Amino acid sequence: MSIKTIGVLTSGGDAPGMNAAIRAVVRTAINEGMNVIGVRRGYSGLIASDIIPMQMRSVNDIINRGGTVLYTARCPEFVTEEGQSTAAENCRKLGIDGMVVIGGDGSFRGARQLCLHGIPTVAVPGTIDRDVSSSDYTIGFDTAINTVVEMVDRLRDTSQSHDRCSVVEVMGRNAGDIALHAGIACGALTILVPEVEYDFDRDIIQKMRKTLKTGKHHFIIIVAEGVGNSAEITKRIEEETGITARLTVLGHVQRGGIPTARERINASRMGYHAVKLLANGISNRVVGVRDGHVVDYDILEGLEMKKQFDQELYEIANAISL
Ligand code: ADP
Ligand code: F6P
Repeated sequence: MSIKTIGVLTSGGDAPGMNAAIRAVVRTAINEGMNVIGVRRGYSGLIASDIIPMQMRSVNDIINRGGTVLYTARCPEFVTEEGQSTAAENCRKLGIDGMVVIGGDGSFRGARQLCLHGIPTVAVPGTIDRDVSSSDYTIGFDTAINTVVEMVDRLRDTSQSHDRCSVVEVMGRNAGDIALHAGIACGALTILVPEVEYDFDRDIIQKMRKTLKTGKHHFIIIVAEGVGNSAEITKRIEEETGITARLTVLGHVQRGGIPTARERINASRMGYHAVKLLANGISNRVVGVRDGHVVDYDILEGLEMKKQFDQELYEIANAISL
């Protein structure tokens, strides 16, 4: 049975590039002869029937904007059977017979439930953390690391002028990808991530002492949020080295801003692919990018994949930071 009306929503934390994905979904669906309904505020919008019909021109001038024009939310009610049944029932009432969900792995679980409740759904990875195992890339990651690099470059100026140590906490509750990629790009002395156990003395103090002897006077330490104790780390650095240390928690600035070109391209490719799958009668898939190619997997299979931490990049960062 061919899909007549497709719904699209963004869910979980927002991410720059989500708008480019929405634009691709809307335009591809219309090109396929489908109607498009935008569902606002993630799964909450499905439960509350908070919707907006979308046309070709509804997605004008959004490719360059961060955030999501459909708004996003976390919706505990949708985790319940009752919430899921209401959402699926509302889809049927609205004539939505296919859904594209843009979000992280929590949102993928929700997408799978929608399929199990009879609504063909395809998921697209959107989260700055890149904590999704089924894709090398998630919408928002590239912009976020570029934002972190810009901020740390600024911190480097003041840190260098004052002979200080800058400790920078970046986002990533469960994954150190932002810390690792931004850390290597801004020349951090030490990068702490939740995936690798660290030794405070070996990885921070001894490295600082060693580089002090070779003429280094200022230091940048990047700590992923998931490591959990950046304030304590900052205090101990000052106590043990006598070097003034300042903590900067970058926080939600990392979630905003103009999406990079790479973001817009990949979001467009994945949004297009998601609609093409539905148009070809394929659902319960999660789209991703692997080795540069757009791919898709069964949602459960994607969720069960093991995410590989980039140990090689971590070792390179350590080797060249001295
Ligand atoms: P992300 O999608 O970025 O991982 P969350 O984990 O907060 O973000 O998930 C977003 C939303 O997806 C949740 O608020 C909830 O509505 C839905 N969701 C998460 N887990 C499940 C689940 N196991 N079953 C159904 N829906 C879920
Ligand atoms: O989008 C992912 C993320 O940025 C995490 O790194 C962070 O812990 C979390 O979202 C914070 O989100 P919020 O403040 O919206 O709960």
